Amino acid sequence: MSTALITGASSGIGAIYARRLAARGHDLVLVARATDRLNALASELCDAHGISVEVITADLTDSIQLDSVLKRLRSAPVIDILVNNAGAALVGDFASAEPDKMQTLLRLNVIAPTLLASAVIDNMLARGNGSIINIASVLALLPEYSHGIYAATKAYVLTLSQSLAAEVSAKGVYVQAVLPAATRTEIYERAGGDISKVPDVMEVEALVDAALVGFDRRELVTIPPVPEVAAWEAFEQARSVLASGFSNSEPAERYRSSV
Ligand SMILES: NC(=O)c1ccc[n+]([C@@H]2O[C@H](COP(=O)([O-])OP(=O)(O)OC[C@H]3O[C@@H](n4cnc5c(N)ncnc54)[C@H](OP(=O)(O)O)[C@@H]3O)[C@@H](O)[C@H]2O)c1
Repeated sequence: MSTALITGASSGIGAIYARRLAARGHDLVLVARATDRLNALASELCDAHGISVEVITADLTDSIQLDSVLKRLRSAPVIDILVNNAGAALVGDFASAEPDKMQTLLRLNVIAPTLLASAVIDNMLARGNGSIINIASVLALLPEYSHGIYAATKAYVLTLSQSLAAEVSAKGVYVQAVLPAATRTEIYERAGGDISKVPDVMEVEALVDAALVGFDRRELVTIPPVPEVAAWEAFEQARSVLASGFSNSEPAERYRSSV
């Protein structure tokens, strides 16, 4: 029986990952700050699916509490699937953002998933098996749409997923970046926003079920709302055309004069 560790499992996307992975028979380690919600979900999933569930209460922006999750990822029973899901948004402009709040967001959305993946990767590489699911956002590809640093944190998650996949996929470790668009969860209200003003909101169960189809197909990047995969493939093709110009010891002709 394999074990999945899910961060941010107390609500929204993480809670649905917990339900779906429990239904698939995985044992679970649930991580978030809200112990009561984690315990309630754990007991429901144990009863419904006969799996074993550990709960770790941790604020992932606190280095000591993060350390308890890093230790769990390095120990037994081994973690077969890491779902790097915990995250938050920060409403408002970059110019008016408080540095403390930006630092907390960077700890949660960037540093925590990076160190969690780092803690689990050695075990996965040694076994030649394991999966890391990183929840990014379509805003990683649409930074102009969102002010402040949230989109940049999610671009980091996408880029990390792509470079990590290039490093480990041939060694048996699967990495998936999931890019949700607007999804009905608590994230908007937590950030002081209002989801009723957001158009085309996907239900969270539909988002996770689609992401798991991408997982089963071993997609590197899964963007549930995009109707045609050809659009993503064309984007990747354009990126590779651009990249073909990177290997050049001379600046391009257009930069050789100042006019
Ligand atoms: N909903 C969307 O429209 C949308 C779109 C694109 C991407 N995403 C991404 O999806 C992921 C999940 O968000 P969601 O939409 O499901 O929002 P959510 O319902 O607010 O869930 C966020 C989860 O993260 C946990 N969390 C927040 N701060 C934490 C901290 N300091 N330490 C540990 N856990 C913390 C929360 O639990 P506790 O409060 O109990 O700690 C909760 O379980 C995020 O990475 C988000 O950026 C969401």
